[in-house]
Amino acid sequence: MSSGHEKIMLMDDNMANLFVGKNMLRMFYEVYLAPLLRKRIMATELVELCDSITGGHVYRAQRYLQFLIEQMIREDVYTDEISEWDLDVVFSSAQLHDVGKIAISGAILNKPGKLTDEEFEIMKTHVQIGVDAIERIEAAASQREFLHHAKVIASTHHEKWDGSGYPRGLRGENIPLEGRLMAVADVYDALISARPYKEAFTAHEAERIMEEGRGVHFDPVLVDVFHAAAGRFAGLANQFREEMNILDGLKKCEGIHRRQNYLPVRQHAAV
Ligand SMILES: [Fe+2]
Repeated sequence: MSSGHEKIMLMDDNMANLFVGKNMLRMFYEVYLAPLLRKRIMATELVELCDSITGGHVYRAQRYLQFLIEQMIREDVYTDEISEWDLDVVFSSAQLHDVGKIAISGAILNKPGKLTDEEFEIMKTHVQIGVDAIERIEAAASQREFLHHAKVIASTHHEKWDGSGYPRGLRGENIPLEGRLMAVADVYDALISARPYKEAFTAHEAERIMEEGRGVHFDPVLVDVFHAAAGRFAGLANQFREEMNILDGLKKCEGIHRRQNYLPVRQHAAV
């Protein structure tokens, strides 16, 4: 009998689209998500099912969050709050910040252009859908601390320091620290990565845009922490870019290899 993980790996993008409906989503939580959450790392693959970009984003954003917290500890910033956390649990739980995207259609997630107002409203629902998913699991699971941080991060990572974010329009330190941290990590990765609707910004450009968000989108103290760790952020972004280039090269080689093996068979069949 195949495991939950093996079942997930057998599904392709078309299958993932079936889960857009709420009923299917419920089945998805109960049959797949809860068992996989027992192996925390699998959360990345879940989101990857619906959005080929997001999976890598989830991992990178988690690492950026780690860099920020390590820098905060070095600089003794918000250490009273951080000292209450089990850091490994917080890093792991950050993987679920966009889990609600499992219910957003690929047409919106991968749209090669600006979202319409209506599409953006749909995109915004990924926050509440993610929270609902985590709460559903929370009721049955034993990893309460992990799920508590996951829920805080999923529910507040799109709030903005000036109160203009969503879904609740929280302002300043009313936004939990986890959400303020995730906002920095999340936006930096969105800037530095190529997306269907935009080219990747350079590290320098990304840092400038992050600075523009100081006290507007982001907690100003965390922007200062980000600047102190910006070299590590850029290093990780470069490493991923190089890995993606290698992967693209390998895929092209594999395509050529397949075509070379395929052609003689077709020629033979045609005779
Ligand atoms: Fe998000």
